[in-house]
Amino acid sequence: MSRLYDELIEAYDSIKSRIPFEPEIALVLGSGLGDFANNITNQVLIPYEDIKGFPISTVSGHAGTFVFGLIGDKKIVAMQGRVHHYEGYSMHKVVMPIRLMKLFGAKKLILTNAAGGINESFKPGTLMMITDQITSFVDSPLIGENVEELGTRFPDMSNVYDVELQALMRKTASSLDIDLKEGVYLQTTGPSYETPAEIKMFRGFGADAVGMSTTCEAMAAKHMGMSIAGVSCITNLAAGMSSTPLNHMEVKETANRVAKQFEALIKNFILAI
Ligand code: HPA
Repeated sequence: MSRLYDELIEAYDSIKSRIPFEPEIALVLGSGLGDFANNITNQVLIPYEDIKGFPISTVSGHAGTFVFGLIGDKKIVAMQGRVHHYEGYSMHKVVMPIRLMKLFGAKKLILTNAAGGINESFKPGTLMMITDQITSFVDSPLIGENVEELGTRFPDMSNVYDVELQALMRKTASSLDIDLKEGVYLQTTGPSYETPAEIKMFRGFGADAVGMSTTCEAMAAKHMGMSIAGVSCITNLAAGMSSTPLNHMEVKETANRVAKQFEALIKNFILAI
């Protein structure tokens, strides 16, 4: 067995007795969905700090907890707070929570985030369903010895985001009268925002949105054969596209402004799965 798999099993074993049920769906709550857990009933919380070898977020206001519970009759596990590569964690640590949620039993994964809009038709507050991703600017979480227990050495990435889940997400958005956009998400390492020249390059590469998370998680999940859906909340126009400099306050303000709509989309999507 590989060291990475040993670590994962150790983490699992350290909280095994507290896992209330096998979840069907795993959900990563990004900026903008901080209050989503209020929609989850019959909650059982497992704080990350109780899990052996688990990464703990250093970003203020990012509570780190697994929330097990129900949305309607759907059994879910939500990650309230994720860790980022820019905090200094290796990519292996960053994707460890995703791998653990697969061990809990989740076969479907919903990823959410806040992102800068590169596509010129997007406005701050736009919700964008992720249809594909560019992960070439960050290290792969699959580098190193392959964990055979999780997946194959050379996994296919032709369809990272499940087409059936995409169709369901479109239908859900339309039933809620949400003008859901679609596009390609590109991950950078952060923590600095991009330069205007980088944004121009990313647009040339076909990216519609940029952020500092998600593609590594999707890659690790795809490696394990999970069905993945992703949504970005476009919190700002990317660097060089507006006259004002970027700042975290703007990101948080826009995320809060559209939080209710974002919550409704994710909640109804889960109910429809
Ligand atoms: N760039 C990178 N990450 C982000 C941005 C951005 O413009 N907005 C929110 N997260």
